[in-house]
Amino acid sequence: MRMSKRGFVRSFANSHALAAASILLPTALLAAYVNTKFHDAPASAQAAKNPYAGQEEAAQAGKKLYARNCLSCHGELGKGTGNTPSLVDGKLNSVTPGEVFWFITRGDKDNGMPAWASLPPKQRWQIVTYVESLGTSQAAQEASPPLPPDINTSKLKAPPPTPPFTDFRYQKPGTFHKITVNDLPQPYAAKSAFNSPGLVARPENVWPSAPAGFKVELYGAGLDNPRTLRTAPNGDIFLAESDPGRIRVFRGLTAAGKPAQSAIFVSGLKQPYGLAFYPPGPDPQWLYVGSAAEVVRFPYHNGDLQASGSPQHIADLPDRGWFGHRTRAVEFSRDGKRMFVAVGSASNVDDPDTTPREHDRADILACDPENCVLRVYAYGIRNAGGGIAVNPQTSELWCSVNERDALGDNLVPDYITHVQEGGFYGWPWWYIGAHQDPRHQGKHPELKDKVIVPDVLLQPHNASLEFTFYQGRQFPAEYKGDIFASEHGSWNKVVRVGYEVIRVPLHQTGHASGEYQDFLTGFVLPDGHVWGRPVGVTVAPDGSLLVSDDGSNSVWRVSYTGK
Ligand code: HEC
Repeated sequence: MRMSKRGFVRSFANSHALAAASILLPTALLAAYVNTKFHDAPASAQAAKNPYAGQEEAAQAGKKLYARNCLSCHGELGKGTGNTPSLVDGKLNSVTPGEVFWFITRGDKDNGMPAWASLPPKQRWQIVTYVESLGTSQAAQEASPPLPPDINTSKLKAPPPTPPFTDFRYQKPGTFHKITVNDLPQPYAAKSAFNSPGLVARPENVWPSAPAGFKVELYGAGLDNPRTLRTAPNGDIFLAESDPGRIRVFRGLTAAGKPAQSAIFVSGLKQPYGLAFYPPGPDPQWLYVGSAAEVVRFPYHNGDLQASGSPQHIADLPDRGWFGHRTRAVEFSRDGKRMFVAVGSASNVDDPDTTPREHDRADILACDPENCVLRVYAYGIRNAGGGIAVNPQTSELWCSVNERDALGDNLVPDYITHVQEGGFYGWPWWYIGAHQDPRHQGKHPELKDKVIVPDVLLQPHNASLEFTFYQGRQFPAEYKGDIFASEHGSWNKVVRVGYEVIRVPLHQTGHASGEYQDFLTGFVLPDGHVWGRPVGVTVAPDGSLLVSDDGSNSVWRVSYTGK
């Protein structure tokens, strides 16, 4: 290590010392971070006793309160959803009930955790009792009864959005949108909203919609947290089921549009997400898998339905046992000489200069895939962990980014862009060019003119995840080379946005012109309830588009019929 952890981000930013800036993480430092105080809770919080500790009745009451107030973000049984941390991954084991109570009371507005001071202390303790029971008691492992989520229908009567901003009511396959820098409102022009999607089952007569001429079929159902999709060179379809920690393979296609075969390639992993075959080309030898804290690889040869050997460790990632963005997209340069891995921030907008757990995060890292020593490839990218991919026409790396929250409905746009080596994309001090984040007023003036404006600005908060470049032969010629991207859907917007697959036209040039088009919509019911959330997207060998959906736990197949 040439530089202290504290010094790294800034010295890199100032000197662009790419080559010198190794970010290998000594294990001793990792341990130190794990022991970092829980959200800087004061000693008095640590000492506070739970008056209901271990009481079954309080846990039961807490379970109901949890279902009403916490489940939509933290998920069933506290397992976490999207970017909201799990409450049962062991981190809370070293935290006292008093600290949890203190944190719930105070929240962390800038990072998307509401304050719950409005609930009476008794109810807050009951919730703490329930949350504590989740880690330990067998009884608590029964799922909470699904309560109908609270939908505030007044939100749906909200006035229509002001273009170019939109919301789910106005998303329609075929509609174009284009957001430019000049369209951005002032920070806090709208109040920061809490509007997480309480999921409902898909009503039987409801189906996603695609533009005329496209047909949508249910390819796979009954999956468990289906996330990234990758098509292997031989045409098999790989799917990461993150929560259960496994990677599945689909093969073939029946007349009914379903996979002919489904197998488990490997299981027992911790939250696998990024998938990439190596070396690039027709004859891969390995499948690389990215998860929160590391990249591993499994031996893989065309036709394998099961990993033939145990994983090899490739790289430790700057995770530091902390929460934050946990998805790690992985990709290779076309010549196979570089592995890219995207590591999202630990928080919404904490300053890496003063927050140890943000060191070396919010960037895209790169290394030699055979002898991996990670270096920063591009930085200030809040979270590209949802998707990175190499453009086959230009060989450039592209990324899909979740930008920050809590500045109002129409800030900050998510984006899809080609990535410049050594490029700075703003987080956390700046955004979308020379706009200073008001929470970091006056900081890093020297970076102001370095902030790159991304190629395609997307709707703020829509949670852009995996994307692919369409190289199939089935869709009409004008789609060739275009990007299809999953937008998982907002929580930080009064009327929801996202919950769709978009198309970014590249006009056969390999370059974007800023606009995008709604392509696959209908995952939100007219009353605002959400039943589906697109995550992964890949092109099947027959040229149809496959889309994973971790809301309804399925994979959708979109094919072109021309009818
Ligand atoms: C709108 C979404 C949302 C809701 C609703 C919500 N949380 Fe959170 N919660 C978050 C986010 C985001 C974080 C991470 C905050 C951070 O990075 O500081 C978080 C963090 C936490 C943490 C700290 C976890 C850790 O590993 O450090 C606890 C404990 C917690 N929430 C409990 C609750 C409880 C209990 C409720 C219900 C009373 C609740 N949350 C409701 C979004 C939510």
